[in-house]
Amino acid sequence: MATKQITLGGEKLEEWEQEVAVEGGRKEEGEEKPPLEVTTLWDYPKQSYGKTPKGDNKYPGVTPAFVIYNLIQRYTKPYDLVVDPMAGSGTTADVCKEENRRCICFDISPPRSDIIPADARRIPLKDETVDMIFIDSPYSDNIKYNEHPDCIGKISCEDERFYDELEKVMRECYRILKPGKILGWLIGDQWVKGVFTPVGFKIFERLCKYFQPVDIICVVRRNQTSNTPLWQYRARKFNFFLRGFKYLFIMRKDTARGNARNRERKEGRKIKWHQYERKRPQKAD
Ligand SMILES: C[S@@+](CC[C@H](N)C(=O)[O-])C[C@H]1O[C@@H](n2cnc3c(N)ncnc32)[C@H](O)[C@@H]1O
Repeated sequence: MATKQITLGGEKLEEWEQEVAVEGGRKEEGEEKPPLEVTTLWDYPKQSYGKTPKGDNKYPGVTPAFVIYNLIQRYTKPYDLVVDPMAGSGTTADVCKEENRRCICFDISPPRSDIIPADARRIPLKDETVDMIFIDSPYSDNIKYNEHPDCIGKISCEDERFYDELEKVMRECYRILKPGKILGWLIGDQWVKGVFTPVGFKIFERLCKYFQPVDIICVVRRNQTSNTPLWQYRARKFNFFLRGFKYLFIMRKDTARGNARNRERKEGRKIKWHQYERKRPQKAD
């Protein structure tokens, strides 16, 4: 890449501009890379990018590869270890391979051989060994992923048990993640037969028991089965909304120092009054 001469600004600006030129929409060995997002609204017209497929776009509930690309570019460096405990068709594995990140993927019923069969409520990894976790979990029982009896996608989001089981996954994520590192969790709400369930808010509330929120991204939903003229007609006629977005919760596992700071903030700052006591003048002999 030709070096751009920057006459305005100092050395730092020059470095930064060069980095943006590389990361934002770069082309390398014929593989087109997605831009690094700068706002909290992410909208992708297709599931994947580049020449090599990432995941299987026929897999039910497949994740847009762009989402994972953006997270690993921002929160990991080459050779860091990324884990996807509910990996489905392996989009995370494929994105990581192309970006030189180490990756371990698990699923309750893996559709390919490089994904290890495991329950996300019992991840077979040691404590604090992982640099980033990405999860696109089931949102309810709206999609049939597989026949496995332990698939959380068999539980309705209208049942509190759905959140209890996903909280077990959150606890495992907290255990295996190194302090200070990031968990990205993608989830959508549900509207079925007149009943709206704010799945995203409920999941966020549970996540906040373990992690600090870094940001919330709105990922536009495309290519879903309800995106048809018939469903659009029904939405207008029967006065409801089709789901237009998913939440991407970016959460951080706190460091020990951060934990202490947060505890202090929650408990309220304790004032040590003795520091303010007036010292009595000593009597002269
Ligand atoms: C939305 S899909 C993941 C899609 C995936 N990111 C992709 O791009 O293909 C959710 C996945 O969670 C898996 N799953 C459900 N319950 C699970 C559990 N208890 N442990 C591990 N995986 C589970 C399902 O098998 C399904 O593949």
